[in-house]
Amino acid sequence: MQTARCGSPLSRTRARHSSMSRARVLVTGAGGFIGSHLVSSLKREGHAVRGADLKYPEFSPTSADEYIICDLREVREATPAFRDVDYVCALAADIGGMGHISKNEADILTNNTLISINSLRLATRYRVERFLFASSACVYPMTLQTAPESPALQEDAVLPADPQGAYGWEKLFSEQACRYYSEQHRLDVRVARLHNIYGPEGTYQGGREKAPAAICRKVAAAQPCDAIEIWGDGGQTRSFCYISDCVDALSRLLASNITQPVNIGSEEAISIESLARKIISVSGKKLDLRFTDGPEGVRGRTSDSTRAHRLLDWRPTTPLDAGLARTYEWIAAQLQRA
Ligand code: NAD
Ligand code: GDD
Repeated sequence: MQTARCGSPLSRTRARHSSMSRARVLVTGAGGFIGSHLVSSLKREGHAVRGADLKYPEFSPTSADEYIICDLREVREATPAFRDVDYVCALAADIGGMGHISKNEADILTNNTLISINSLRLATRYRVERFLFASSACVYPMTLQTAPESPALQEDAVLPADPQGAYGWEKLFSEQACRYYSEQHRLDVRVARLHNIYGPEGTYQGGREKAPAAICRKVAAAQPCDAIEIWGDGGQTRSFCYISDCVDALSRLLASNITQPVNIGSEEAISIESLARKIISVSGKKLDLRFTDGPEGVRGRTSDSTRAHRLLDWRPTTPLDAGLARTYEWIAAQLQRA
């Protein structure tokens, strides 16, 4: 594994904490969307990175120094991944957009609970210095998200618990598990609550795709004057955070001493209809929208990212229009290649 360059948030923090100037980082879920981008970013920062996943990244080769194919639900398979690392970024999960998480709740609960608990146990067993858990905006109470203009979600609003479905319940359970491992076993944990992350090299077909990628795909595949299918009436709102901003925030959080959960998300709420119209505009096509029944999830969700601004000095820097243009271009190119 290589020597780190100085200057990244993580290496600066390590320099303060120990004589080492680089970290050995395990990224679980390294074959997925955020994991593969995070591996590349950690490598650019000069760290020694091990990836672990059921699969290799689909769209470009991994930048990891070492890559372990394993099923983290099986503790014996997972064990080698956790040996001899300083930091763990726990991103592996059975995840998708509304089309996936609304229909596979028993499997999601089972898979993700096993992954999370195994990861915490092994991180503790091998005395890793720090453990970052990728949680979700789905932990927040559904009752706070019933209107398109629902107030932005602050971290402390998470209790009393009423999270979204099995996916949200598991994330909330695993956040609590992080706390108990921290209290009983002194595991130093970081919790990132991610709000709808999008960008190139994310899943765009097959049923797990989230709204930005799904709509980009539909628009890219459409013929002139087609109508694009949108689930719901289009009035539901979300905020969308571009992948490079997300990875930057994860890196800052990992390097920080912030043990409270931190929202990582854009504060720019937009309706799904407006999102679709923006994507159509990026494409330059003339297309209509057709609103259909589909899994809608909450009616309105936005991140309050004050804590990340204040404690991590982080704000998303990629405007939605720019991020959507890059995402659309990438998905359109994938469709042309197929
Ligand atoms: P992704 O599906 O692209 O990546 C998840 C990866 O986990 C996949 O490569 C998958 O193969 C791997 N995985 C699943 N089960 C596994 C197992 N049993 N053993 C080993 N690997 C396994 O998803 P993503 O968008 O990159 O999400 C990464 C993390 O961020 C997840 O924990 C997710 O819940 C969280 N998150 C993502 C978003 C988002 O908008 N993308 C929002 C909130 C939270
Ligand atoms: N996926 C998808 N596909 N959603 C669509 C579509 C479509 O073709 N058309 C309209 N939508 C609407 C959905 O009905 C939903 O109301 C909204 O777009 C957003 O859907 P998703 O992007 O699939 O999911 P989400 O924002 O409700 O939840 C996602 O973000 C969470 C974090 O904020 C999921 O990916 C969760 O897993 C994640 O944790």
